[in-house]
Amino acid sequence: MLTLRFLLACMHLIALAIGIAAVYARGRALSRTTSAADLLDVFHADNWYGIAALIWIGSGLWRAFGGVEKGTEYYLSSHWFMGKMGLFALVLALELIPMITLIRWRMAFKKNGAIALEKARLLARLSFAQLPLLALMVLMAAAMARGI
Ligand code: HEM
Repeated sequence: MLTLRFLLACMHLIALAIGIAAVYARGRALSRTTSAADLLDVFHADNWYGIAALIWIGSGLWRAFGGVEKGTEYYLSSHWFMGKMGLFALVLALELIPMITLIRWRMAFKKNGAIALEKARLLARLSFAQLPLLALMVLMAAAMARGI
């Protein structure tokens, strides 16, 4: 049990490192996009953000509700956990347009179809806007873990 707890904690924190780097790299790549060829860097960073999200959510839900840490009741009665999940919902809301647009762009890219690149600036802003929310989530997570 201790090993599983340790491994899940490591995965959660590695996802944090990958996720922050990936969403920043995606924002930078989007803000520099002037042609379809530039999208390869965007897609690359977006792949890593997707991988981080899967590890983040998978390990987070397991830790919260899988009985490996402090137990479901502890987290559901923690206002820090609720705050963290509220911020997480905001991050997801900010991610909706980039996610849908990038899926469409990937399909168009494969078929050499037209891509409305002028939307790249908006997607860059939506990527960067997630960074302060993710940082706040870290503060809330640390408070939540220590029962402050
Ligand atoms: C569905 C999403 C998530 C869930 C359910 C979740 C849940 C959890 C749980 C249960 C813990 C263990 C706390 C403890 O030791 O008692 C934890 C720790 C942590 N989480 Fe998350 N998490 C999620 C997403 C995230 C995200 C997106 C971030 C970063 C922005 C994050 C950052 C952290 C950090 C830094 C810790 C370590 C806190 C510490 O030990 O000081 N989590 N999370």
